[in-house]
Amino acid sequence: MELKVVKASVEKGEGLGWGKSLLVPSIQEILKNDSQSVPERYIQEPKDRPLISQNLFDSLQVPVIDFSMLAQKDANEIRKLDLACKEWGFFQIINHGVREETMVNMKAAMAAFFELPFQEKSKCAKAANEIQGYGQNFVVSEKQKLDWCDMMFLKTFPHETRNFKEAVEEYSTEIRKVSNKIDANLSVLMGMDENGLKRKLGEFQQGIRMNYYPTCSRPDLVLGISPHSDGSLFTLLLQDDEINGLQIKHKKVWIDAKPIRNSLVVNIGDAIEILSNGMYKSIEHRAISNEKKPRMSIATFVMPGDEVQIGPLDSMVNGKHLPRSYRNIKYIDYIRQKFAMKMQGKAHTAIVKL
Ligand code: OGA
Ligand code: NI
Repeated sequence: MELKVVKASVEKGEGLGWGKSLLVPSIQEILKNDSQSVPERYIQEPKDRPLISQNLFDSLQVPVIDFSMLAQKDANEIRKLDLACKEWGFFQIINHGVREETMVNMKAAMAAFFELPFQEKSKCAKAANEIQGYGQNFVVSEKQKLDWCDMMFLKTFPHETRNFKEAVEEYSTEIRKVSNKIDANLSVLMGMDENGLKRKLGEFQQGIRMNYYPTCSRPDLVLGISPHSDGSLFTLLLQDDEINGLQIKHKKVWIDAKPIRNSLVVNIGDAIEILSNGMYKSIEHRAISNEKKPRMSIATFVMPGDEVQIGPLDSMVNGKHLPRSYRNIKYIDYIRQKFAMKMQGKAHTAIVKL
């Protein structure tokens, strides 16, 4: 497949203005010189290390939602969606309508990009004062521990900031259809009509982050992605069909979101937590590494416009019974404070909590 990598818009000085991050080395490159190495900067403090062998909660499964049933307005499936958002903040969707070929092409394009020589990839490296491009984000101090992962973040909607090519375009367009259906369902579940969220939030922005997790000789010492919740309305994750890596914190324990072929993992982000006044929670999650095979994932973040005020919806606040528990904040201010910190559990939602 031909892969065109167009120079990132950041080089033309068209940054997003969302934040910055210190530049860090590529883990993939470090491992090319020494595949066994686990540099000090990547070794997590003992309290933060993942317990790789813990399988006590293996039987717990992230809820699976059949999207075709939602389209038929099946009351039982809608109830399942509501419960999944309330109790898990995560679900996997099957029969979502995204063509298998589109997903396969997207994964192949991502793999082809990460297999390019470093010098080629560096042509779309992020600048130090930007978050878009190839490289890591959320690095705010030379002392902080680093994640065992290389990333590429792109804003894919609106169109003019788009700079990766065909596979990403097709994938993002298909995912947008799925995300429109999720937001229609969430609108109804939050006491509005199907267009409620769109009316309140305007046209959604969409960003895509490709996460490349190389193998690690000591997966018990490192984290692929540190625990965090997503700053989006919700996120749709296309993960490897076979390799485990994503874990979510459910009732205080870490649970594997085991891959289901052709499914998408969906999670509630901070913006829906705030809009729903806490009824739906953006759950902490992380990714772990493994010794055997690199893992790739593609996260699509669906977000309100930069200038939109987010705060609890009128339909989710009700005097004494449901007092307002978050303050209003302009979305870009929320995003900027998020990118100004290390990824750190739920620390940023705490900032807008009343
Ligand atoms: C993310 C994320 C998890 C994964 O990109 O926000 O949580 O499994 N990714 O890659
Ligand atoms: Ni995430």
